[in-house]
Amino acid sequence: MPVQLDRGMTFIDYTDPSVPLGQHRMPLLGFGTWQIENDDAPQATATALELGYRHIDTATGYGNESGIGSALADSGVDRDAIFITTKLPPEHAGRERQTIEESLTKLGVDHVDLWLVHWPPNKQASPEVWAEVIKAQQDGLATNIGVSNYSLAQIDELTAATGVTPAVNQIRWSPGIYDASIAAGLAERGVVLEGYSPFKASNLNDPTLVQIAEAHDVTTAQVIVAWHVAHGFVVIPKSVRRERIEANAAGARVELTADEVAAVDSLGS
Ligand SMILES: NC(=O)c1ccc[n+]([C@@H]2O[C@H](COP(=O)([O-])OP(=O)(O)OC[C@H]3O[C@@H](n4cnc5c(N)ncnc54)[C@H](OP(=O)(O)O)[C@@H]3O)[C@@H](O)[C@H]2O)c1
Repeated sequence: MPVQLDRGMTFIDYTDPSVPLGQHRMPLLGFGTWQIENDDAPQATATALELGYRHIDTATGYGNESGIGSALADSGVDRDAIFITTKLPPEHAGRERQTIEESLTKLGVDHVDLWLVHWPPNKQASPEVWAEVIKAQQDGLATNIGVSNYSLAQIDELTAATGVTPAVNQIRWSPGIYDASIAAGLAERGVVLEGYSPFKASNLNDPTLVQIAEAHDVTTAQVIVAWHVAHGFVVIPKSVRRERIEANAAGARVELTADEVAAVDSLGS
């Protein structure tokens, strides 16, 4: 259903498809922002919002939250219509509350939709850090909370220590590194799998991807986005180029057959 904004322009609504996340939903397509400089973030984010993205992935460590915040403020899109993720740097363990408050100030919002522990602090699950993240959620600063770059065992450690399972694990993910046991392990625990670096972790000239792309008259990058969506994996491609920002989003609308999904899966084995 196209979204009509008050500037009189019609946008495609990419919040569908989405996955359930607590009481809410998480758009399967998001806009990745790592390596977008703060000065470039307003333009890139504004372009993504204009082209229909309603989910932005940032992090304290990316140094671009204030640039993204300025695009959010200028966009004219309702805050409730945008899913915003940011992340706690592992080295900020011990100053979790100050860190999320700074993120909220820079983003110009009173809560984020998802706050992630960016990496296991000192490579450890660190339930004491997770307990602080839970407190921030209880206080309404983050609607949903999760982790990034955690193993299944580390997720289990957090659950055992606190009784609260991360809602999301954001991990490096692509057809070439697809691991069905990780996907199944997260699904069993009710953890949404959010993939990062979908293109950087891929060979865009892979013959299987090329063949499927040709069959749909799309690019291999779009096949990779479509494959994530077919599985229900969240995908957050990054680009600073308008044509790619648009094309990557359109990949979420490409419907692969079950055989094509299986063929892409086989690249990971
Ligand atoms: N949690 C973590 O530890 C973690 C780690 C890494 C990333 N992430 C998140 O995941 C997001 C995505 O990952 P990523 O930025 O590492 O990599 P990516 O999205 O896989 O790839 C981005 C690179 O691919 C290029 N690109 C974009 N669209 C393309 C297309 N259609 N065809 C060919 N090349 C294309 C981009 O260049 P142009 O910009 O010039 O188009 C950029 O160089 C990040 O931005 C970040 O939000 C999280």
